Amino acid sequence: MRFKEIKKYNSCKADCEVIIVSKEKDIIDKKDLKLLSFKIETEEVAFLPHLHRIYVGVDELNSNESRLALFNAIKKIKGTKYKSLKIKVDNKSLLKGVVEGIILGSYSFDKYKSSKSRFNLKTIYIAKSFNKKIVKEAKIVAESVNFAKDIVNRTPEDIYPEKLAKLAKKVAKSLNNTSCEVYDEKFLKREGMNLFYAVGRASIHKPRLIHLKYRPENPKKRIALVGKGLTYDSGGLSLKPSNAMLTMKLDKSGAISVLSILKAVAELKLPIEIDCIIGAAENMIGGNAYKPDDVFVAKNGKRVEVRNTDAEGRLVLADCLCYAQELKPDYIVDMATLTGACVVALGEYTFGVMGHNSNLKHTIIKSANRVGELASSLPFNRYLKRTLKSNVADISNISSSRYGGAITASLFLDAFIEEKNKDRWIHLDIAGPAYNENGWGYNQPGGTGAGVRTCVEWIKNL
Ligand code: BES
Ligand code: ZN
Ligand code: ZN
Repeated sequence: MRFKEIKKYNSCKADCEVIIVSKEKDIIDKKDLKLLSFKIETEEVAFLPHLHRIYVGVDELNSNESRLALFNAIKKIKGTKYKSLKIKVDNKSLLKGVVEGIILGSYSFDKYKSSKSRFNLKTIYIAKSFNKKIVKEAKIVAESVNFAKDIVNRTPEDIYPEKLAKLAKKVAKSLNNTSCEVYDEKFLKREGMNLFYAVGRASIHKPRLIHLKYRPENPKKRIALVGKGLTYDSGGLSLKPSNAMLTMKLDKSGAISVLSILKAVAELKLPIEIDCIIGAAENMIGGNAYKPDDVFVAKNGKRVEVRNTDAEGRLVLADCLCYAQELKPDYIVDMATLTGACVVALGEYTFGVMGHNSNLKHTIIKSANRVGELASSLPFNRYLKRTLKSNVADISNISSSRYGGAITASLFLDAFIEEKNKDRWIHLDIAGPAYNENGWGYNQPGGTGAGVRTCVEWIKNL
């Protein structure tokens, strides 16, 4: 899709036009809209095919609302033959949302369908508040999100650790100043990453540690992004019930999100070094499966009692966080579909933000608010920490309490963060918003690329 500036809106001959309406604005086709009982509010859309005109309502004129509005307009255009669209963007602050809404809306997933959907829209003409830089940046970010959706949506038969590693290599190759190393299961054993290795060992698809590096000139900071890349989570011997197992291809979402963030940051040429560390494994059953009752030694020497093999993400991340700290980054962000408890706590649209550094948590949540993602802090406390006590090892991989599961999972990770790094680390539990079978807002059913826009926004403002 191309975005072009136009000077004279009325003389521009596009196949259709989109009009954003707020309460303050006067509408031309009042009669038509009344007939359709169109209300001037968010998520309202009216398509007047005889006029080739689409009205979209917004509660307020801002970037988040315009993203949603354009997403809904594009939904209407999807089945049509329209090749071009024109829109008057009254205010520069709306432009980012307009461009993102169009690109996010254009996405569809039909890799496994016999007949593919056709999307004909090629050119978008924008009048009044066009700005090349804003359009370019919005395009990069929204395309990274679509890229994330596209990989998350792929099946476990298609994407397993080795394939994910191949894909990461391909991404690195397509970017400037970026490289990618892939390490196999022998490396994990050699490096004492026994928790990570144990989780992946029952699968015919062996685990991989994927490490991408983005190295711009004159970097201002270095960030390590750590992603949970469970290409499938059956639960292992603590097997999930059938209903809970369904959709568990989503368990690679953290990995895909961190990969997409690196992609966007590199394409935006931001002066921040990124180390992207992905723990890719498949949690399966079999004669070689790790078991509840097992005790393993982590990369940092801590001994972990496995009491539930379905709490596998924290085991993989624990070793990866140890690895990440050796790189001495300024910040460590991990992203994971870590707990069902986080979905219970915050609902399926909001991701959880956990860590010791209140400022950092606050900054991330503010970034989320600016880009229209939902994020909320879940606080640690010493009593929940005590529920991870083990009688046979240093720590148990599950809490003895049924409650506060998102926080206790995060407190497990905390046990692998060195004292000097406590304030550098933040954990994002994206189990809710990373994948949704119905879709919502400007997210189609399936993978969503949760956290990508938030983190890119945060990194941009560092
Ligand atoms: N991948 C799941 C968490 C999950 C659940 C993500 C639902 C998305 C939707 C994770 O590995 C898991 O199974 N967690 C367990 C932890 C429990 C055994 C302590 C859970 O949430 O039930
Ligand atoms: Zn699990
Ligand atoms: Zn999992």
